[in-house]
Amino acid sequence: MSTGKPAILIVDDERRSLESLERNLADEFDVLLAENTAEAEQLLADNWVQIILCDQRMPDKSGVRFLTEMREKWPDVIRIIISGYTDADDIISGVNDAGIYHYITKPWKPEKLILVLRNAAMMFELERQNELLAIELRVSAGAANTKVNERRQSLRKTYDFDDGIIRSKTSPMNGICDTLIRIAPFDLSVLICGESGTGKELVARAIHYNSGRWNSPFVVQNCGSMPQEILEAELFGFKKGAFPSAVHDYTGLLERASGGTVFLDEIGDTTPAFQVRLLRVMQEGELRPVGSNQTRKVDVRILASSQKNLEEEVQAGRLRKDLYFRLAGLCIQLPPLRDRREDIPLLARFLLNQAMPKLGKTAAGFTVEALSCMKRYCWPGNVREMQNEIERMLVMGPEDEYLGAELLSPKVLMAADPEVSDDLALVGAVGGTLKERVEKFEVKILREALIRHRWNKSKSARELGLSRVGLRGKLERYGLEKDEGKAAPQPEFVENKGVP
Ligand SMILES: Nc1ncnc2c1ncn2[C@@H]1O[C@H](COP(=O)(O)OP(=O)(O)OP(=O)(O)O)[C@@H](O)[C@H]1O
Ligand SMILES: [Mg+2]
Repeated sequence: MSTGKPAILIVDDERRSLESLERNLADEFDVLLAENTAEAEQLLADNWVQIILCDQRMPDKSGVRFLTEMREKWPDVIRIIISGYTDADDIISGVNDAGIYHYITKPWKPEKLILVLRNAAMMFELERQNELLAIELRVSAGAANTKVNERRQSLRKTYDFDDGIIRSKTSPMNGICDTLIRIAPFDLSVLICGESGTGKELVARAIHYNSGRWNSPFVVQNCGSMPQEILEAELFGFKKGAFPSAVHDYTGLLERASGGTVFLDEIGDTTPAFQVRLLRVMQEGELRPVGSNQTRKVDVRILASSQKNLEEEVQAGRLRKDLYFRLAGLCIQLPPLRDRREDIPLLARFLLNQAMPKLGKTAAGFTVEALSCMKRYCWPGNVREMQNEIERMLVMGPEDEYLGAELLSPKVLMAADPEVSDDLALVGAVGGTLKERVEKFEVKILREALIRHRWNKSKSARELGLSRVGLRGKLERYGLEKDEGKAAPQPEFVENKGVP
């Protein structure tokens, strides 16, 4: 049975010698002992041995001869000879035949012996790993290709316009997706604008995976998050010596993505120098690495995005007009989530389905009340904010049950009127007498407290400083009641397969 220590076989005809070696080595090695070569051979056949430590002078066979024979049968085992000085010549002539790793002279010193054996064990392990790696490389070159292809096919499905971009039948996203499906196969630059979290990168991926370039890389580069010199070096590459830390040539992302698509996020944050370089790529299909005076051909499709209004950036002289027109072969504006509330139930279900395997927890769906709060909220962070909200609900909620409104964060729970995003705006937006306006607030406060306490009237009344009777009176007056039916109906996904 293996203890995890390297196994060593010691062969010596002198019992005392064997015992003394065993005493010194047993802490670090699994020690096997043989008093003659026949016994040793049997032990080698029965055990997985890493090292043989063999005496040279033995009555039946010399150590070198025995190790030469064993090399034929078990070539991987590390072979070591122990001998007196007088045998040195013999051993040296036998080193090549027996492939001896080391020979140790008698009398041996325990520390030195252990050191040699430790190195031998390490050597064995390294050789074994090398061999495994070589086998794996040989076997897996084909397997790796298959894996990459499988992964690419699955990415194509994930970023399909119909399966990957979730929207309802009446969503304003439908018109946008119809246009994108038509232009995706052509090498047109697309400028994707929209607030944070509206799905700009998702749309860019969908364009790539629905184009003829789908089998080549899709690379994302955020242009606003790093110093512009580093951005230039990263995208265009550099020559050794171009700047103090450029110790070797570097191939930029644009060249490495050759044949594929490069998505430049926050393009409005780039410097004039960067814009000139990029324009050259887009106009001539060539680039010049930083510090080089030679140009190289590149074949990439450029997609860009921005949260800023780029026409304003052009007006202000911060973005080159010629680059803007190159980038905006087609310009699309993704609507914020608050302008497509009809998508919220579908998205909520989709994001929950995505979150469950990721977090290793399941939920049956959302309650009607939770969904209506989500539909009322204004989602300034758009789909990304919703994704975070749903992950949090799943983590905090009960396993396998419907996720209720009480799990929503206070800002979503307190969601004001759909058209109005904060309370002060509500004050101005609500018309009518003072009493009517105050009552609108009262309804909002009552609703929020009741949902948070899962419609427990005693707890809500206590918190609001009302009697139970007083609270009931208000609920009747305002017609406030819990949404009927626990589970929200299963949302229907858009049926737009085969859109022309
Ligand atoms: N219609 C949609 N269907 C499914 N998932 C979506 C949809 N829109 C956005 N998402 C998801 O929301 C998250 C945010 O989207 P994405 O990163 O594309 O937004 P973005 O506009 O690039 O945001 P930012 O401006 O902050 O970079 C991603 O996980 C994305 O998959
Ligand atoms: Mg993005």
